[in-house]
Amino acid sequence: MSLRHAPWEEAAEFRIGLRPIPISDWFEGGDADPAKRKDGLLAAHPTAVWSEIPGSRPAQTELLAMLAGAFGHDIAADGQPPLLAAAREVADDLCLMEKLGDAWRLTALSLCAGSFFTASEVIGRSLAELHRPVTGFEARLLTRVERIFNNLRPDTLLERRNWSLVSSPDLYAPDPGPMRAAIPDIDPDSAANALFARVERQTLRRLPQTGAVVFTIRVWIDPLSAIAADPERLARFARAWRTAHPDFRAYKQLNLYDALVSRVIDGV
Ligand code: HEM
Repeated sequence: MSLRHAPWEEAAEFRIGLRPIPISDWFEGGDADPAKRKDGLLAAHPTAVWSEIPGSRPAQTELLAMLAGAFGHDIAADGQPPLLAAAREVADDLCLMEKLGDAWRLTALSLCAGSFFTASEVIGRSLAELHRPVTGFEARLLTRVERIFNNLRPDTLLERRNWSLVSSPDLYAPDPGPMRAAIPDIDPDSAANALFARVERQTLRRLPQTGAVVFTIRVWIDPLSAIAADPERLARFARAWRTAHPDFRAYKQLNLYDALVSRVIDGV
């Protein structure tokens, strides 16, 4: 099993961590039929996975055309909102951020692998409001992130990654409650297969005409056993686990997993 991303090897704290990548790397693929998965979720949980504010249609249309150009084929909207049609083409969740007044706000999103939030909860929120639960975001990161949104050039693609530990392999995870409640039932001897690294690989790209920023989120989930398979990888994970910043630990409730993780990393 190959781990595509191992962001804990770089950081176990809140940080911006953006780097430019080639435009051709916009989407990583790896999902055989995203439309089928997303259609099913839209039918079952419409307000959790989709939301838009009406003024976002021009930016949605621009994004759909940009994706069609990138993939070299037309994408029919077939009466759907353009962002929804675009999202059915890719494994990633797609969010549109637009500057309304002084603030960058979330104006449309297709969110089928949200990590503990839903589309209806976050639609319309500014960067500050989105990140209110993240300790220190407003004081340490907000101004820098806003500057990045203001200055992003259309020919630049930025990537960042974050990670967490979870007890479910499900991409669709609107609420951490059920998976956290199930932790006491996990057999410690099977911890390496019952716990999963949940990585979000995110990108930022400016749409040149409307000026909106496209924020993509691709979630990759691997069992801890995939990390444990390589002793050096496991040693790097163990270091991240032991040195994670207290705010980061508290936000992600990593303490809930300490006893189980120690079964995997003790002695490393
Ligand atoms: C450069 C841009 C951004 C940076 C540096 C950033 C950074 C972060 C960080 C550090 C966290 C804490 C969770 C973690 O590390 O796993 C977080 C959470 C989050 N971010 Fe961002 N973010 C950015 C853009 C966005 C955008 C555009 C959205 C819009 C959808 C967004 C929505 C969220 C949400 C909903 C959470 C979870 C907050 C909660 O716990 O309720 N972020 N972000």
